[in-house]
Amino acid sequence: MSNSDKIAKLRELKEQAKLGGGEKRIAAQHSKGKLTARERIDLLLDPGSFEELDMLVMHRFQDFGLDKQRYFGDGVVTGHGRVNGRLVYVFSQDFTVLGGSLSEAYGAKICKIMDMAMKNGAPVIGLNDSGGARIQEGVVSLGAYADIFLRNTLASGVVPQISAVMGPCAGGAVYSPAITDFIFMVNHTSHMFVTGPNVVKTVTQEDVSFDDLGGAETHASKSGVSHFIAENEVQCLQDVKRLLSFIPQNNAEDPPDLATEDPVDRQDESLNTSVPDNPNKPYDIKEVIQRIVDDGDFFEVHEHYAGNICVGFAHLGGKSVGIVGNQPAVLAGVLDIDSSLKAARFVRFCDAFNIPIITFVDVPGFLPGTDQEWRGIIKHGAKLLYAYCEATVPKITVITRKAYGGAYDVMSSKHIRGDINFAWPSAEIAVMGPKGAVEIIFRKEIEAAKDKAAAVESLVNEYREKFANPYIAAERGYIDSVIEPAETRPRLIRALHMLENKVEHNPKKKHGNIPL
Ligand code: HXC
Repeated sequence: MSNSDKIAKLRELKEQAKLGGGEKRIAAQHSKGKLTARERIDLLLDPGSFEELDMLVMHRFQDFGLDKQRYFGDGVVTGHGRVNGRLVYVFSQDFTVLGGSLSEAYGAKICKIMDMAMKNGAPVIGLNDSGGARIQEGVVSLGAYADIFLRNTLASGVVPQISAVMGPCAGGAVYSPAITDFIFMVNHTSHMFVTGPNVVKTVTQEDVSFDDLGGAETHASKSGVSHFIAENEVQCLQDVKRLLSFIPQNNAEDPPDLATEDPVDRQDESLNTSVPDNPNKPYDIKEVIQRIVDDGDFFEVHEHYAGNICVGFAHLGGKSVGIVGNQPAVLAGVLDIDSSLKAARFVRFCDAFNIPIITFVDVPGFLPGTDQEWRGIIKHGAKLLYAYCEATVPKITVITRKAYGGAYDVMSSKHIRGDINFAWPSAEIAVMGPKGAVEIIFRKEIEAAKDKAAAVESLVNEYREKFANPYIAAERGYIDSVIEPAETRPRLIRALHMLENKVEHNPKKKHGNIPL
């Protein structure tokens, strides 16, 4: 064979590999409103940057007709490329090949790029679309999954791991995305569940559709498994790229700066009236955040889950920050199980990847009730407390209004190593709200009073006068500075600048024991 024939053969093999399971299956994939594994990679990566690896890998199994179903690549496209010029590793599961099912060879391809990502310090992005373990390969396929789970765990906190679920992701296969940092799902075409609707019907007699059981909306709003939901795959992949713009390549690097025209000394007078005069009236913390951050650009994470707390990324003076804010517009911003879990995971991500945390506090406390107590608000609330306590990235806090009870301590207070703690003049820092407080400490006086309502009112006013302000905390130095709301942006940016070279270490240990 001449050299030119050899080159022609290589080209032919590559063309064959690019077809995955063939034209018919590609058409079937498209007819479901889904793109192919390679089309997804093209949308994700900078044009021409994809370097494919293991394109000619095949499985080695003979049983159950597998000997007649051998495809180049074996159902997953893997390699590395660039997103906005930055290196990423990617695997994209190819549903056109044996339903994207995971085999020994396929697992080894994913492990290879994960190992490279760890050595070279770059994110791993997994595009999931698979029928799960390749049934014909039996336990070998399960072993391949476990090889991936182990790497997901070892890579956690070292390089960012992002999962986009763009088709089925079922059974134990869900646990790889679950260990990664962020899960994106596409409405109606992606599903995640441990057992599908048929098994559910057999075991619990429940009738449930694929979408209701494990669709994007379910996981974005009910279970909190998914952090982002997109209407289509194009938007989903754009969102993945946007997320990458806020985060560093690995845990030894800082996140990238983003140049902005938004002046660092910009004040916003409208913030002075953001908090209503009536302390029981809600307002939207997202509006406050948008007025403060660069260009009003706030990238919310977990937007549809536990709305009583809001978390996401933004830039301040060009620096990437993670923002956590109690949301007074939902359940008065109370901390409950879901909001504690949501914020704790976000705080830990930011801390693992050197992203400073800005916390906006307006919290009436933890949610009372048997439901919360019996489901373990004690241990779940403790996760958020633990996450804030152990975080050593710059932590800046702004108390806009209520900071009551244990929630005051939890929300990045000075006592748990808040670096700079600001309060607005509208801040109310106390053990509890005025009414609850006087009913406990003046119970006898209220019982003895002729006009009980008047007695309560006068005591509430006295308590409010005394405690419903930031000045007692400021007297103690628990608040570093009481600031005018309008100046919040410049004050935060100066604090961030001051904390640029912050070094703080936790005691040496194998790992802590966060109350799981
Ligand atoms: C081998 C599989 C497969 C699998 C699908 N296929 N899943 N082959 N192993 N796990 C094949 C099908 O036989 C079919 O081949 C082709 O892929 C396309 O599948 P369809 O069923 O035609 O597609 P669709 O109707 O879109 O349904 C998709 C699906 C369904 C919902 C994912 O295929 C399905 O239920 N698959 C089985 C899911 C499953 O139970 N997996 C094991 C889960 S347990 P032909 O040639 O006929 O077109 C698990 C354990 C992981 O994964 C453990 C980790 C610890």
